[in-house]
Amino acid sequence: MQQGIFISFEGIDGAGKSSHIQAVADAFRLQGKAVVQTREPGGTALAEKLRDMVLHDAMDPLCEALLVFAARRDHLQQVIEPALARGDVVLCDRFTDATFAYQGGGRGFDLRVLTQLEQWVQALPGGGLRQPGLTLWFELDPAVAAHRLAQARVPDRFESQPQTFFNKVHLAYAARAHADAKRFARIEADASMDAVRQAVLNALRERGLLSAEPT
Ligand code: TYD
Repeated sequence: MQQGIFISFEGIDGAGKSSHIQAVADAFRLQGKAVVQTREPGGTALAEKLRDMVLHDAMDPLCEALLVFAARRDHLQQVIEPALARGDVVLCDRFTDATFAYQGGGRGFDLRVLTQLEQWVQALPGGGLRQPGLTLWFELDPAVAAHRLAQARVPDRFESQPQTFFNKVHLAYAARAHADAKRFARIEADASMDAVRQAVLNALRERGLLSAEPT
């Protein structure tokens, strides 16, 4: 069966990852690939409703974890798995690493529970877990990210957290990247937009996902 390419984009709020998803989509489309651009929490009508709750309604960390995984389940079933089965490229703005970073690291929620939820929600019929083939981790000093965010829009429940929260989120991303080094490409995000874009495209070329011609 044909299998697509699943790429997730991760990093603390303010790291600038979202700006680069479009450039990656354009590069794949130029090479004739069908691209699905999506995000978490979200990506389906149900998951977008759950996103709105997670980002704006007060709740305890278990509730938060259950809602992001419920959203993920729907997203996998309705969007991600069908797209991969068609052979498409799926570009997902955040995936499960964000749950380990924000709920696990930031909120200090039990990693064993998150691991159990991950096993249930991402189980593949033939065994194993659905994970991105590649995760682009936009790494930025939380102090720099906080400065960038302070100049941006009205903050949601996460963006309004103090910098200590983002220090923990950052450390949890680093731990996830360390534990699964082959899947992660670390992108130095404290650079110009153009330099970051080039680093992202290079990471894709190095892994043979994009052809070598400059785009
Ligand atoms: P984000 O991806 O930064 O979108 P936008 O650029 O529109 O703000 O926002 C999603 C927020 O949700 C972000 O602060 C991280 C948080 N989040 C979690 O806490 N857990 C998760 O599992 C996911 C996917 C996101």
